[in-house]
Amino acid sequence: MMDARNGIGGTLQGVDIRAEIERLRKERNAVILAHYYQKPEIQDIADFVGDSLELSRKAAETDADVIAFCGVKFMADTAKILSPEKIVVLPDLDAGCSLEDSCPPAQFKAFREAHPDHIALTYINCSTEVKALSDVIVTSSSAEKILSQIPPEQKIIFGPDKHLGGYLSRKLGREMLLWPGVCIVHEAFSETELIKLKAQHPDAPVAAHPECPGYIVEHADYVGSTSGILNYAKTMEGDTLIVATEPHIIHQMEKAVPEKTFIGAPGADGNCNCNVCPYMALNTMEKLYLALRDLEPRVEIDEELRLAAKRSLDKMLEMASSTVGQGDVGPRP
Ligand code: 13P
Ligand code: SF4
Repeated sequence: MMDARNGIGGTLQGVDIRAEIERLRKERNAVILAHYYQKPEIQDIADFVGDSLELSRKAAETDADVIAFCGVKFMADTAKILSPEKIVVLPDLDAGCSLEDSCPPAQFKAFREAHPDHIALTYINCSTEVKALSDVIVTSSSAEKILSQIPPEQKIIFGPDKHLGGYLSRKLGREMLLWPGVCIVHEAFSETELIKLKAQHPDAPVAAHPECPGYIVEHADYVGSTSGILNYAKTMEGDTLIVATEPHIIHQMEKAVPEKTFIGAPGADGNCNCNVCPYMALNTMEKLYLALRDLEPRVEIDEELRLAAKRSLDKMLEMASSTVGQGDVGPRP
């Protein structure tokens, strides 16, 4: 094979990337997991595409030797926390997340210490250090179920996404102390442009991710995780849907229900690319191939930190699967 790594992101001359990924996936006994915000070609070659909760469950259950995680760093970290014996590779280690960046562990620790009677219910979009400082992790698809299991008198800090926290507070009538983080992608939707778009498609419902600001969610007929939005697209009546989340999910909608029309909600100038997640976009087929070939870049986590973070993730997996009402969540000792 004539190989030349002309730098990450460069052209790999003479390499049939798709065929090589197929070959290496078998040779390495690797599973390729992808989030719905990945490029279509990555979604199509993945063994499994899902939302954050589904991807966490897959990572915990797989018997593969290698997990090639096509998503962002906190997702690959979660896979490593749950499956430490596996090699976890992320095609581009710089694939971060603005929500993770908005919650530095030292500040979060100080905030927790200032509120010792509160538990920390924390969105999975955060660092391993912040997970280790938290009591229960939630994803957008499990947050409501988990929050409803926490006794009403228990005080709660919710971070880092103030919009998801605000949405849950309003929906469940539950006051929470909110950390002021945002997702730059969902923050970029424009209410004015959405109203104009709705006027052009008066019969089209709007589906929004709860990472959107409240003024966008208010216009939504359905609010939920990426999987929830995809399911709504499949089951809704009508033939057109306005989608207020990262637009790469539309790929799965068009595959599932090609007869329907999906329109991405607009950003401020009505026609920008500002709702594409710049972190998710760092992963490419070339980088996925290199990650499977070289088993780099790998995600590694200090064992003590991993075990501390695993407690709050395990709690999430347990409470997200629970069939009972309120759980036994209390402040950390
Ligand atoms: P979900 O896929 O869990 O809804 O999360 C969306 C997201 O922003 C992931 O970064
Ligand atoms: Fe983070 Fe937002 Fe990108 Fe999701 S879409 S990875 S929350 S920046």
